[in-house]
Amino acid sequence: MCGIVCYVGNSKAKPLLIEGLKRLEYRGYDSSGIAVQDTGRMDYYRAVGKIVELEKRINGLEINGTTGIAHTRWATHGEPTEKNAHPHRDMEEKIYVIHNGIIENYQSIKKRLEKKGVIFRSDTDTEVIAHLVAENFTGNLNEAVRKAMSQIEGTFGIAVLHKDIPGQIVVARRGSPLIIGLGEDGNFAASDVSAMVRHTKNVIHLNDNELATITKDDVSISTLQATAIKREAERVEWSAEDVELDGFPHYMLKEIFEQPETIKNAMRGRLDKGEGVPRLGGIIPVWDKLKECRHIVIIACGTSYYSGCVGRYVFEKLTEIDVQVELASEFRYRKLNFPPNTFIISMSQSGETADTLAAMREARRKGAHLLGIVNVVDSSIARETDAGIYNHAGPEIGVASTKIFISQLTILTLLAILLGRHQNLSLTEGVEAIRAMEALPDQVQSILSKANHIEAIAAKYHDKSNWLFLGRKYQFPIAMEGALKLKEISYIHAEGYAAGEMKHGPIALINPQMPTVAIAPKDSLYDKMISNIQEIKSRRGPIIGIGTEGDTALKEMVDDFIEIPQTLDFLYPILTVVPCQLLAYYCALMLKRDIDRPRNLAKSVTVE
Ligand code: G6P
Repeated sequence: MCGIVCYVGNSKAKPLLIEGLKRLEYRGYDSSGIAVQDTGRMDYYRAVGKIVELEKRINGLEINGTTGIAHTRWATHGEPTEKNAHPHRDMEEKIYVIHNGIIENYQSIKKRLEKKGVIFRSDTDTEVIAHLVAENFTGNLNEAVRKAMSQIEGTFGIAVLHKDIPGQIVVARRGSPLIIGLGEDGNFAASDVSAMVRHTKNVIHLNDNELATITKDDVSISTLQATAIKREAERVEWSAEDVELDGFPHYMLKEIFEQPETIKNAMRGRLDKGEGVPRLGGIIPVWDKLKECRHIVIIACGTSYYSGCVGRYVFEKLTEIDVQVELASEFRYRKLNFPPNTFIISMSQSGETADTLAAMREARRKGAHLLGIVNVVDSSIARETDAGIYNHAGPEIGVASTKIFISQLTILTLLAILLGRHQNLSLTEGVEAIRAMEALPDQVQSILSKANHIEAIAAKYHDKSNWLFLGRKYQFPIAMEGALKLKEISYIHAEGYAAGEMKHGPIALINPQMPTVAIAPKDSLYDKMISNIQEIKSRRGPIIGIGTEGDTALKEMVDDFIEIPQTLDFLYPILTVVPCQLLAYYCALMLKRDIDRPRNLAKSVTVE
């Protein structure tokens, strides 16, 4: 959600913090702020809007301190105004706090403090932390933060700076990511490695209920009970280039074009063509139980949920396993009742989505085994699952998820083939599936090479305010994902529907002003899709058809046709989603939307 970055070292903190904030902007971007410590004073600035507004505010100012904290906010408590932007301060203006997460008991703490005469300056939950730290401060900042932590409930990643304690930052974590970076010229802390990866690749992950005191030459970690912890630094694989735009106008477009490589990365070292059996090292710890499992529940949110929905059909096709797909935010409040040896698959790009984490903890309580399909290494979900499979897709910066969707589909399919091969799937079928998967990167590339054609289609329809996306079976979740992409970045209203349901409602909407994207590759339900397309056509609704190359019948039937190469039924989603992503991208571009930072959204949703 919000982004945190801190630096303490020999260099000027301001440019490092601003650079870090820009890398984190995708997490939240409605206001930002900075506090840099200098001899006897604190340079403290906040601004509403994107980081560039903060930059304008401090441009040209002499901010020379070498210790500082900075924050980009995604509002939860209190509107995105300057007074609600972080850092927040105590009454004496000595303690400065930035926070990612939600303090659930802030109202009772606030009431108690107000009775003592504390005056609050903001509407945020965060501000209570500053006052609590001040209340507990007797000269040792780490101790004061630790005492404050024991009084707050909820989730947080925090960083605290004291005006009179030079060169020291105290950070703490419960439920929201906090990573410490060990640099040559000073140390960093951030909610995401991308904020510091240009300066260091040596990182230490803080666990829940731990805090750390960071100075330029030292990092000391301890528990809530003040027990010291020794933890070795790990090396992150992501390079600075991975988080650069690399000549693309937007991260979203860059990530769409990376997809052939994303598929390769998800499959690298994991294919055994001879035996038709994928190798997934990350699940070895649970393999004995997993291969006997007959019930899987996939839990996820947003785009990850739609890839789970495709996964259900793929598992149904290739295995004997019964698969249920659930929105984590709903699942966590359900009465759970699964058969013995049920596996939960938590699917998440960030590995930090609060609802997904909570849902899997609930499932754990009920006795399920936990598997993760996660992109961010060592994220909370990755660490709390029994075993898992990493996407190895590199950072995804664009708020609208694209390459991770394709990566998740690739990994779910590998897992289904693997389990299927231990059940009913024959050698020939396994080998055929793996061969077809190997062709996918080039096939996605061939769709990308027709981006101009898709751009021209977007030019024709981007001014239409309502769109319908239709698909059946494997393509039904793609219809929903296509609609989600369009609405989240272009703000056009779009609905994704199972084509068979059209006659139960959405057909009433069809008119010449409402385009339908009909996803109709040559699969087992092709004929049924064609009937639905006819129904739209006879009501004069414009149709953009996504179909298999060489399908002249479909091409003639629709107003605009986007070709995709031929593959196996259950692999088509990996191809059909690409034109949907590009359509959304180009519509948003033509409508001049802020594509990588769409309004009201955040990349990583670490609050419920
Ligand atoms: C947010 C993002 C989506 C993402 C969803 C789930 O809503 O904007 O792009 O699909 O969270 O995130 P996760 O990190 O768990 O996959």
